[in-house]
Amino acid sequence: MRELGIIEDGSVLIAGGKVVAVGTTDEIARNKVAKKADEIDCRGMVVLPGFVDSHTHPVFTAPRLVDFEKRMAGATYEEIAEAGGGIRASLRGVRDSSREKLAEHVRSALEEMAAQGTTTVECKSGYGLSFAGEMKSLEAIREAARHWAGTVVPTLLGAHVVAPEYRDNPDEYVRMICEDMIPTAAKLKLAAFVDVFCERGAFTMQQSRRILRSAVEHNLGVRAHVCQLTPEKLAPLAEFHPASLDHMDFVSDEDISALAKLDTVATLLPAANYFLGLATFPPAHKLIDSGVAVALATDYNPGTAPTPSMPFVLSAACTHMKMSPAEAVVAATYNGACALRLQGRKGSLEPGKDADIAIFDASDYRELAYWFGVNRCSGTLLSGTPHSSTARPAEFSR
Ligand code: NIG
Ligand code: FE
Repeated sequence: MRELGIIEDGSVLIAGGKVVAVGTTDEIARNKVAKKADEIDCRGMVVLPGFVDSHTHPVFTAPRLVDFEKRMAGATYEEIAEAGGGIRASLRGVRDSSREKLAEHVRSALEEMAAQGTTTVECKSGYGLSFAGEMKSLEAIREAARHWAGTVVPTLLGAHVVAPEYRDNPDEYVRMICEDMIPTAAKLKLAAFVDVFCERGAFTMQQSRRILRSAVEHNLGVRAHVCQLTPEKLAPLAEFHPASLDHMDFVSDEDISALAKLDTVATLLPAANYFLGLATFPPAHKLIDSGVAVALATDYNPGTAPTPSMPFVLSAACTHMKMSPAEAVVAATYNGACALRLQGRKGSLEPGKDADIAIFDASDYRELAYWFGVNRCSGTLLSGTPHSSTARPAEFSR
């Protein structure tokens, strides 16, 4: 969690989109391949593996400003959801939009992320909540990924909340997820993972298990939102070997010990706690001190975390969860890659890995978590290709 492997006056040699060698500038200069290489001068900068944002919900069409105002007037996230706001409030925009329109939104989110140093993004569906709406959302993710040089990992989150049409028969919605959404997403290779929101007001443990079992049967990876608002036992989910369990605000001490023995990552999303104005944050230190691999992600979504910024997440992790800047950097890079089971390709600068690199206008890595509300990322390389930021938020509907 803390080893950064910092090289002072370092260089990275890249060819064909891959890292060929990493070392001091003197060492790299002696490499035969380096003689013919173009040079990007990063003197005085911090160069690190691009951030892996392993938990985002970018397929939505409008900010939820009414929910935001209600919360400022004292309503909680759950109260707003019960009153018809929350996740279901984002449904209409997604169902009524074309795939192309949704893809534009996703694409613009990816651009904003890259502009702040992110090179790999997990993207969930989850605001369509019908067979057609969820498949269209996954297609929009695929379409956006085609036009972005970074790496996108698509996740089916049909099990975000029960669709309003199934309010009186939630098990029928679960059946549809298991028998229609998951098989189709697997067959068309639209998703690498299946996620479920296992929580009061969303899906019960029994329903969540049914969904994850179907995912495993269709050879899809598994992850879950759990312990965000209320405590939940993890063993019944752990059985399905999730790559990651996310949020974890209410994880118990016993489950932390059990988790330390598994290769499941705990992904913490402090931007959501910040945005909901909560006084408490996930127990990052208990997890880390017990030997659990902790990742950090934005949770980019219109209800609890409208931010594309990993540097902001690093800041929140340090100031509110007392993670050290080194722990935050590892959690946002290598451990994020582990949370997507991509650690063989992503998350560190090592020969053979994808040349996904973030360059920061800072002379010390700790500055990445120190400055906030300002973008100090001066560039990224996405599989070796310099990314020029055209980040401009998409036209949101109101
Ligand atoms: O991770 N918890 C469930 N999903 C999101 C919130 C989604 C929304 O409110 O739109 C989260 O916080
Ligand atoms: Fe989420």
